[in-house]
Amino acid sequence: MENFEQLRTVKFYSGETTPLEMHKVRVVQKLNLLPIEERKESIFGAGFNTFLLQNKDVFLDMLTDSGTNAMSDNQVAAMSVADDSYAGSASYTKLEKAILDVFNQKYYLPVHQGRAAEHIISKTFCRPGTVVPMNYHFTTTKAHIEMMGSAVEEIYTEEALKIKSDFPFKGNMDINKLNKVIEKWGAENVAYIRFEAGTNLIGGQPFSMANLREVSAIAKANNIMLLMDTSLINENLYFIKIREEGYQNMPIKDILHEMMSYTDFSYFSGRKVSCTRGGGICTNNHDIYMQMRDWVPLYEGFLTYGGMSVREIEAMAVGLNETLDFNVISHSPTFIKYLVDALDSKGIPVITPSGGLGCHLDAGQFLSHIPQTQYPAGALAAAMYICSGIRGMERGTISSVRDENGDDVLADVELLRLAFPRRVFTLSQIKYAEDRIQWLYDNRELVGGLEWTEEPPVLRFFVGKLKPIGDWVDKLVAKFRADFGDSL
Ligand code: F0G
Repeated sequence: MENFEQLRTVKFYSGETTPLEMHKVRVVQKLNLLPIEERKESIFGAGFNTFLLQNKDVFLDMLTDSGTNAMSDNQVAAMSVADDSYAGSASYTKLEKAILDVFNQKYYLPVHQGRAAEHIISKTFCRPGTVVPMNYHFTTTKAHIEMMGSAVEEIYTEEALKIKSDFPFKGNMDINKLNKVIEKWGAENVAYIRFEAGTNLIGGQPFSMANLREVSAIAKANNIMLLMDTSLINENLYFIKIREEGYQNMPIKDILHEMMSYTDFSYFSGRKVSCTRGGGICTNNHDIYMQMRDWVPLYEGFLTYGGMSVREIEAMAVGLNETLDFNVISHSPTFIKYLVDALDSKGIPVITPSGGLGCHLDAGQFLSHIPQTQYPAGALAAAMYICSGIRGMERGTISSVRDENGDDVLADVELLRLAFPRRVFTLSQIKYAEDRIQWLYDNRELVGGLEWTEEPPVLRFFVGKLKPIGDWVDKLVAKFRADFGDSL
């Protein structure tokens, strides 16, 4: 009964499915919405790269959910009792206990953020001639694996890249493809299999427990390690609980422990999972732990802080425990669903079903008149900022790389990600986003492409600069003024 209670939601008399905040706001940060002419100046100043905008010029920061989530009162309170010592801090002991309680993992290596865990894992287990099969890559993950000379093979299912779908577990691995990859490379050359919870780059899509169980059985049969990236585990847990047969009445903690029982080791970005900063690598396998342990003091910091401040460590321990609260893990998926369903019902191309992390607009369809070599997702990110002050993130060809001939490797999908930092935005702010997206969609023909002015060779999307092709920005601004008068 207790767990059934957790699944109960508030029904509205009107019959509307309105997401409801199960918390109240007690600390606020003032926002700034610049007039569109100033937003235009800002985006030119940022080289049409939303990473380079100043936050003071941004109204709703939907760039990422990384390090931007709202902490709970209990997390903030915990930060004031932190035990500041280089070695053997009592704060660290609390975190180790939380890792054991929440993840059921005995050994923990602290790191300063998720990619630092990727660095240590790749350094320990990746070599030239080996491969890491995964449901889908994440940018920093792939860069670290490839830097160590290993290859990445993505073994997502056919449903994964379909924009419009009602498949509940688009983050699943294709079992046939997995078997083929193992056969092709030889099990001894598979460094490990990586399963990403809440698969980021395909729209925050979950995998099912059934699929994880199958992959784990194959890994075991072939003597291959299974690594899970649990950075987005909150929402994956939520989706298993509400979408997968047999899990509705299971406590969240038991679902998580079952997931972890199929893995050999895991890592997380605390910037996402615990609403703090920091991260870590977890395992129950002493040998795996020992292989990585000595890199932590070298690259991150001593074993009882790993580059994190003790305040973050305290807040992380509390934040990890809050992951087991249905009200906490259901918040962003229900708000994301609200926006995705609203846009979808108006025929605006958006990834469905709604996932965790954010709302992903399909820039390929939205701006189908812009060739992929002129970066439709980047153009949509810039146009969105210009018309609304909302900062999203390009997740398309700009986030990709060039091949040996210097040509763009065109992304599988051109997406504009509007991330939902957990418990940060109110429903009226989400309605504002919906309104401006509708306006932009109705005026999409005005938006043009982008070209590089400064292109860094590695992870170019972070700091590269571009400019618009032609004078489309002025036309967009003029249409905004014609439609909205002197509105912000
Ligand atoms: N794994 C996943 C699934 C991620 O989404 C991220 C970061 C990382 C690992 C790396 O963690 O940032 O703490 O070093 N994602 C952020 C994003 C950057 O905006 O989606 P990190």
